[in-house]
Amino acid sequence: MSNKNLTTQDKSRYILAITGASGVIYAKTLIEYFYKNKLPLTCLVSHIGEKVWEWEIGSSISETLPSEITIYFENDWWSPVASGSVKAKAMVIMPCSMGTLAAIAHGLAKNVIIRVADVMFKEKRPLILVPRETPLNIIHLKNMLTLAEAGATILPAMPGFYHKPNTVQALVNFVVARVLDHLGLVHNLMQSWEELFKQS
Ligand SMILES: Cc1cc2nc3c(=O)[nH]c(=O)nc-3n(C[C@H](O)[C@H](O)[C@H](O)COP(=O)(O)O)c2cc1C
Repeated sequence: MSNKNLTTQDKSRYILAITGASGVIYAKTLIEYFYKNKLPLTCLVSHIGEKVWEWEIGSSISETLPSEITIYFENDWWSPVASGSVKAKAMVIMPCSMGTLAAIAHGLAKNVIIRVADVMFKEKRPLILVPRETPLNIIHLKNMLTLAEAGATILPAMPGFYHKPNTVQALVNFVVARVLDHLGLVHNLMQSWEELFKQS
């Protein structure tokens, strides 16, 4: 089979999964970064993730995002990202529900998001989870420990306040900036502590 249409970028894309936790604005902000910087991104959305998106953003995910962004839904088992043979640089699950987090921790590949996270582990690729829940019960904490031991990065949606945010978007940017830092991607969503400190 010919692969003449494949470029290096086609083969090494980033994956963002959006699940049914509050905070889909974090995902929207990350998608905007990828879109503006012309970086390849595939989005996976859980059934409840779609509903929470509509509730919190006010329009459906398909209507909100530019048509160039590839979106697969949780039962799209034939989506190319579900196989380890498709190169993905890293996967971010943001926001990550406790349900999805638990299923990944226990290897229950019951939808494409959980299957792709499983693939990230077996292919030794970076996986970042951005959970949003409070307070955390002992089951949540144990599942996070299991995932951290397996090599995932647990990056809770916990914005800081030392950059003196005065908008919701500034709080959102704090978390998304940390995700981009962990992906090794350059951004100007917020200044580093060193830059902020120099200005003070
Ligand atoms: C509006 C709304 C907000 C929710 N927020 C959270 C949340 O912040 N964290 C969480 O773990 N679950 C939250 N849930 C519950 C999850 O959506 C639910 O556990 C669901 O089964 C998760 O499915 P998924 O992981 O396949 O997306 C929320 C549900 C709704 C409807």
